Amino acid sequence: MRPTLAPYPAGRPRRLRRTAPLRALVRETSIGVDDLIWPVFVRDGSGVREEVPSMPGVFRRSVDLTVAAAAEAAELGIPAICLCPYTDPALKTAGCEEAWNPENLCNRAIREIRRQVPGIAVMTDIALDPYNINGHDGIVRDGEIVNDETVGCLVKMALAQADAGADILGPSDMMDGRIGAMRTALETAGHSNVTIMSYAAKYASAFYGPFRDAVGASGALTGDKKTYQMDPGNSDEALRLIERDLSEGADMVMVKPGLPYLDICRRVKETFGAPTFAYQVSGEYAMIEAAAANGWIDGEKVMLESLAAFRRAGCDGVLTYFAPRVARRLREG
Ligand code: PBG
Repeated sequence: MRPTLAPYPAGRPRRLRRTAPLRALVRETSIGVDDLIWPVFVRDGSGVREEVPSMPGVFRRSVDLTVAAAAEAAELGIPAICLCPYTDPALKTAGCEEAWNPENLCNRAIREIRRQVPGIAVMTDIALDPYNINGHDGIVRDGEIVNDETVGCLVKMALAQADAGADILGPSDMMDGRIGAMRTALETAGHSNVTIMSYAAKYASAFYGPFRDAVGASGALTGDKKTYQMDPGNSDEALRLIERDLSEGADMVMVKPGLPYLDICRRVKETFGAPTFAYQVSGEYAMIEAAAANGWIDGEKVMLESLAAFRRAGCDGVLTYFAPRVARRLREG
């Protein structure tokens, strides 16, 4: 279908931009509260809420305050919250055993939210980096991030999170074969209703810096993640990975980072038509907040415009640290 336009003066596209009601009537896409997933950082303790220095307005919360945040998000109509743990450095090991401890921070938070806030879906981030003394998403042997052994660990992690009551598992590790392995293990364990949102097209990006601060992985990380995360120059490869993860049993797929990769979102949605999400990552959030704090941009407007862009690119939803702020703005109208 080609959009048609009568030649001027019969065609005056400005007619439809003249008033707010007319603009609203012909708006093709918009961001709504149903499109939001809110990533939150969890830490130990109780009654603790500390700001992440490189992400002003974003906090690490102890489990009790994470539950309170989930309740607030549910009340705002946000459908899902994604838990990202800040692990006590003393619990980090080369074998990453804490990752599948049923009593780890993430699993305790899942259980408490499930118990106290039934109206919100709980999503997790599956990767070994918060638990790894090496800061990598996989097990490191002789300087190599080994694939198959890591997949075994990720499956144990996925099962522990499903047992705790997670609704959406989000493998963010970029190992090969992990979606199929997790899906089989979930079926075998009686967790056939647990959904997987695969971080399928995840790039080796410098935009993740503030997140690594937030989960305490920056100091630990040696080298980079280029042997498992995607090369930013690639686009066809993203389609191959999305197709692979869907065929292994992913219910939803994600592109990450967000705004710099909207072309990938568009191709993925057009090619597969699957539920497609983007992650507006920590560096994107930090850039908007930093410019707004300097008075260089209107932060509220840029926030809304940046999220609308994901919908225009074809995304069904967005993981964004702005989620509660956007939800409040949308409610105010
Ligand atoms: C863990 C993970 C990362 C992010 C989400 N899950 C960091 C990384 O891969 O290094 C980044 C999210 C963000 O920057 O907001 N594997």
